[in-house]
Amino acid sequence: MQIMIPILNKLPKVRRISQKKVAVMVVLFFGFVWMATNFEITIRRSKVPITIQTTTITLTTKRKIPQLNPKANIKLLNAEDIERFTGNILVLTTSGIQNQNKRDSIRTTWGNSTKFIEYRKKYNHITYKVYFNTGFRSDTIKAAKLESSNFKDMLITNRTEGYWDLSRRVMLGFLWSLEYCSYDYLLKGDDDVFTNIPNLFQIIYTDPFVLEHKDRIYAGLIYPKTLPNRNRRSKWYISKKEYAPDTYPPFATGLGFILTRLIVERIRPHFDWVNPFRMDDVYVGMLINRANITGLGIRYTKDEKQFSGFNSPKQCKYQKNAVVYHKVGSHSCMKSLTDKSI
Ligand SMILES: *[C@@H]1O[C@H](CO)[C@@H](O)[C@H](O)[C@H]1NC(C)=O
Ligand SMILES: *[C@@H]1O[C@H](CO)[C@@H](O)[C@H](O)[C@H]1NC(C)=O
Ligand SMILES: *[C@@H]1O[C@H](CO)[C@@H](O)[C@H](O)[C@H]1NC(C)=O
Repeated sequence: MQIMIPILNKLPKVRRISQKKVAVMVVLFFGFVWMATNFEITIRRSKVPITIQTTTITLTTKRKIPQLNPKANIKLLNAEDIERFTGNILVLTTSGIQNQNKRDSIRTTWGNSTKFIEYRKKYNHITYKVYFNTGFRSDTIKAAKLESSNFKDMLITNRTEGYWDLSRRVMLGFLWSLEYCSYDYLLKGDDDVFTNIPNLFQIIYTDPFVLEHKDRIYAGLIYPKTLPNRNRRSKWYISKKEYAPDTYPPFATGLGFILTRLIVERIRPHFDWVNPFRMDDVYVGMLINRANITGLGIRYTKDEKQFSGFNSPKQCKYQKNAVVYHKVGSHSCMKSLTDKSI
């Protein structure tokens, strides 16, 4: 429009421009308008925001990968060995570096997407891939690196294994997923968790609340208003200095929760690498709260037991409606649950 205004204001001058020139200008103008609108439509239609990294880096590249965050006091020890994912659901499983048996169990059961080919077809050719996010232990690092070069599905960090040091690991996993993968949903899990893949697809692709909130879903076993433990003698004690408010923001328990990529992107600027809150699942809730995402859909589970399953490791009970539950105590249990879910 700006091009037209001076012409319209000084109408007599138009006569001095030849008809040919006017025709060329008109064609250029409408051509530009056409290009602009069509370009915008293409962007809007693209379901997955594809980053430059995912389109230019090939999976087999062996070149050194730069530090994900030079300021972070955590790094990947096997960055060149990790296969990138381009697909729908990325599963990021926190796993003890010593737990190869648990990882193998998942790889050959619900982590094997070939087993669910029929369900994947049913939901428009869904793809998913399981990654394992581990810490460091000097006695197992050699075996873990070999395992990593075989399976290419491990994120081995340099943080010593420890219960209170998971927040940084989760942040690094999130960061890695944003930098190197393209996906719509992220399922954060643990290595003793069974995931019912058909139920996972069902909740993501058919649940009305999930569909309504599109790219802003935080789903899991949500604790809406938990009080920090102020008992000094408790293992779970949280001092006022560490966290002052009387309640935590809503958070999903860490055994399994779903985030959309957009949420992972929005919380990224809030990552505190120096002093993150040490309960990783509560911390994710805090980050989401801090990010103040408009249109966020927090999916509480109420009574459907979709995320609230707690299984005693000694028994192996199939829970029909559950998406995720722990603790699975053996490979035979993991296998039997997976077989029942197919
Ligand atoms: C992990 O690597 C980071 C970055 O190089 C470093 O600052 C940190 O001290 C390392 N941590 C451990 C436990 O080795
Ligand atoms: C995955 O499942 C398919 C189909 O059941 C099977 O042929 C393949 O060997 C499995 N792979 C692993 C690693 O378990
Ligand atoms: C959160 O977002 C809303 C709407 O965009 C805005 O009005 C509000 O000030 C924001 N709150 C904070 C704490 O940033």
